[in-house]
Amino acid sequence: MIDPHVHLRDWKQKDKETVAHGLRVAKAAGITRVFDMPNTNPPLTDRATVLDRLSLGSAEARKLGMGYHVYAGLTGDLAQVEAMARLRDELFPLVVGLKMFLAHSTGNMGLVDEETQRRVVGKLAEIGYRGVLAVHAECEALNDPSLFDPADLSTHSLARPAASEVMSVAGIVKICRETGFKGHLHICHVSTAGAIALVKEAKADGMRISAGATAHHALLCSDDARDSSRGLKMNPPLRTASDRDAVFSALLDGAVDLVESDHAPHTRADKEKGASGIPGFQGTLLLLDRLRRAGASEERLADLFGKNAIRTFALLDEDVFLPDDAKARFFEIDDEYPCKPFLWS
Ligand code: DOR
Ligand code: ZN
Repeated sequence: MIDPHVHLRDWKQKDKETVAHGLRVAKAAGITRVFDMPNTNPPLTDRATVLDRLSLGSAEARKLGMGYHVYAGLTGDLAQVEAMARLRDELFPLVVGLKMFLAHSTGNMGLVDEETQRRVVGKLAEIGYRGVLAVHAECEALNDPSLFDPADLSTHSLARPAASEVMSVAGIVKICRETGFKGHLHICHVSTAGAIALVKEAKADGMRISAGATAHHALLCSDDARDSSRGLKMNPPLRTASDRDAVFSALLDGAVDLVESDHAPHTRADKEKGASGIPGFQGTLLLLDRLRRAGASEERLADLFGKNAIRTFALLDEDVFLPDDAKARFFEIDDEYPCKPFLWS
């Protein structure tokens, strides 16, 4: 399986996790290739840091017989944007694509105003970038941190509401159209029926666009976050049961293209201080089992857990191995992370 969305930390965040540990746990879940996100500390926003990351990740992945790729992160500096696009073209597929945060999340890499987003995408259009631009779609202007009550993690979905994601997806699709962006727009971890509908519409309109979804958004809803011991706070947040069901159905019917873990470990102390992100690859196994039981064909599952990542990112085709013992593997994986988000049922 390919996991196109992980946060492997290390460096100044070794207390959260090391690359070696993250890869080892991913491998135990049956994942053979990961795409690491750029909101590391320091962030993957310049050539030297990207190269450092690749040497660390590639060395660790090689020991395990795995594949390791990174996203280069975008800032609002247009010279930096151009440099990262050229670095991606030079080092593809090691640098598998570009990542832009449209709102702040862990690492505060948000390019939150529409004007900046338009200038960045406009620069990519101008230089003819044709690779993947992956976005974290939430709209800072519609978020209201004052609505979050730390005693009830379900309120995170009030502070970062569904409309925030929908508005952000609509905005970035419009920007890509209007600037003549020639690359492939990937919407990470969609959590709402509204965002899924927008992606569907853009696809029907001929746009190069895809969407990913996580196990937690497909299987859990904001009510599940009320029990704060589960630590279920992440960006984007868990939504209503009907959004959750829309994400699950979209995985079955093809409106969502691929599964991403969004593995995002934090220390227990950081979680207690409100860090967003949940760790682990067990959710991926749980989702595989649930989709199988819901009647997904093995072909559809291979698309969701690997083949569509290969197509979207234009990697060399390879076999995708789907564990048929997802449940057994789920229990075998060590569980050193501070919160265990999923209970098998
Ligand atoms: O919940 C999240 N955690 N969402 C993100 O966008 C980043 C991630 C992290 O790195 O902790
Ligand atoms: Zn993420």
